[in-house]
Amino acid sequence: MSRLAGKNAIITGAGSGIGRASALIFAREGANIVAVDRVEGAVDETAEMVRAKGGTIKTVAADVGDENAVKGFIEFCVSEYGSLDAIYANAGVSGGLVPIQDQTPAMWEEILRVNLIGPFLAIKHASAHMVKQGKGSIVCTASVAGLRANAGNTPYSASKAGVISLVQTAANQFYGTGVRVNAICPGLIETGMTAPLFEGARARGSEGKIGQLNPTARYGHPEEIANMALFLASDEASYVNGQAIPVCGGLSSTHPFAPSRRGA
Ligand SMILES: NC(=O)c1ccc[n+]([C@@H]2O[C@H](COP(=O)([O-])OP(=O)(O)OC[C@H]3O[C@@H](n4cnc5c(N)ncnc54)[C@H](O)[C@@H]3O)[C@@H](O)[C@H]2O)c1
Repeated sequence: MSRLAGKNAIITGAGSGIGRASALIFAREGANIVAVDRVEGAVDETAEMVRAKGGTIKTVAADVGDENAVKGFIEFCVSEYGSLDAIYANAGVSGGLVPIQDQTPAMWEEILRVNLIGPFLAIKHASAHMVKQGKGSIVCTASVAGLRANAGNTPYSASKAGVISLVQTAANQFYGTGVRVNAICPGLIETGMTAPLFEGARARGSEGKIGQLNPTARYGHPEEIANMALFLASDEASYVNGQAIPVCGGLSSTHPFAPSRRGA
C-alpha cells in the first residue's frame, strides 16, 4: 500500500476521530506525518498507534486558530521531512446546541476562529511552500452542516459553509500553480465530537435510529472520511480541485423523508 509513498503530510485534529483515522491511513499508505492537536496526550497516543504499525510520525501540540502556531508546524514539517506535499486541515469544534437567543459573539468568534480561520491559516502558510514546489494538495473538513440546516448549530453550520467557500475561492486563487484545494463534507460520523449523541441514544435504547435519515441507512465511521482525505491528498485526485465532496451515506442527496424500505 503506497498511495502516498514519499509524501510528507500534516493532519490537524489528529488526536481523535477523523484526524486519528487519517493519520493511521496516510501512514499506512507511506506518508511521513506531522500530527497536530491541541491535546498533547491525545496526539501522542495517535503517534504510538501509527508507530506500532511501522509508520513515520512526529507530533506537535498546537492550536490551529493561532497563526504563529500554524506557521510553526508547517515549517516544522518542511524542516523535518524536506517538503510539505499535503495538509489535511481537519480540526474543528461543534460549539454545542445553544439556542440562537442565548448565543454570544464570543461563542461565534471561537467557533469561526477554529473551524474557518484555522483552515484559512493552513491554506495561507501551506500554499507558501506548495506554490514554490509547483505542487501540493490541501484538504479541509467542512460538513454537510455547511450545505443545509439541521446537521449542526448556527455558528457551526456557518463556519462550515465558510470552509466550502474558502476551498472554492482558494483553489481559484492558486490558478495554474499545481496546488489543489478541496473539502470533505462528512455526514454523521461516530467520533469524540458526536459521542454525546451516541451515548445518549445508547442510554435511551434508541441506537438503531441513528443515521437512519440517509439512504445508506447507517452512521459513518472515521475511516470512511479518512479514505476520501487519502484520495484527495494523493495524486489520484490530480484533476479534483475547488470541490466540497459529501461523504454522508447520501444524507445531502435527499429531501426530508419518512424512512422506509419500500424502494428496496
Ligand atoms: N463527527 C461528525 O459527525 C462530523 C461531521 C461533519 C464534520 N465533522 C468535522 O470533522 C472534523 C473532525 O472532527 P471529529 O468528528 O473527528 O471530532 P473529534 O472531536 O473526535 O476530533 C477533533 C479533534 O480536533 C482537536 N481540536 C479541536 N480544536 C482544536 C484546535 N483549536 N487546535 C488543534 N486541535 C483542535 C480536538 O482536540 C480533537 O482531537 C471537525 O472539523 C468536525 O467539525 C465531523
